[in-house]
Amino acid sequence: MTRSFVRFVLAAVAAGTVALASGSAFAAGDAVKGKANFQKYGCWQCHGYEGQGSAVTSLGKVLAPDPLPWDTFSAFVRTTNRAMPPFSEKVLPNEDLVDIYAYLSSIPKGKDYKSIPLLNQ
Ligand code: HEC
Repeated sequence: MTRSFVRFVLAAVAAGTVALASGSAFAAGDAVKGKANFQKYGCWQCHGYEGQGSAVTSLGKVLAPDPLPWDTFSAFVRTTNRAMPPFSEKVLPNEDLVDIYAYLSSIPKGKDYKSIPLLNQ
């Protein structure tokens, strides 16, 4: 391996780390791990197993499908000081939150009722 190639790899790794730190790397998140994390960190207790929210709206909002943009999402989880307790990076590492976001992003939208004949009679 030439020295310049090593340097290139190191630069790429560094760039990846920066992207993760700035929160733009959620595309790399793992939805399967995210599903497990969603349960492990207790998000489901208030938001439902699929982020569908709670019938008691004061308990947890709808998170999916169509989660908030990543920046808003992560900022909220880190800094909320109202009905939801904040999750610091110590408690919930960024990689795990990235995976949770990937999971929520992977939840499909329900069918448009217009495409279901029975509901259109
Ligand atoms: C103790 C209950 C509880 C737990 C546990 C909880 N949440 Fe929440 N969450 C809430 C409530 C209540 C709100 C609405 C709060 C508000 O508007 O101030 C909320 C709001 C949010 C929002 C903002 C949604 C929006 O549209 O404004 C996000 C994102 C979120 N939660 C993500 C998470 C994630 C991720 C976890 C797990 C790491 C989690 N929550 C765990 C109760 C909870």
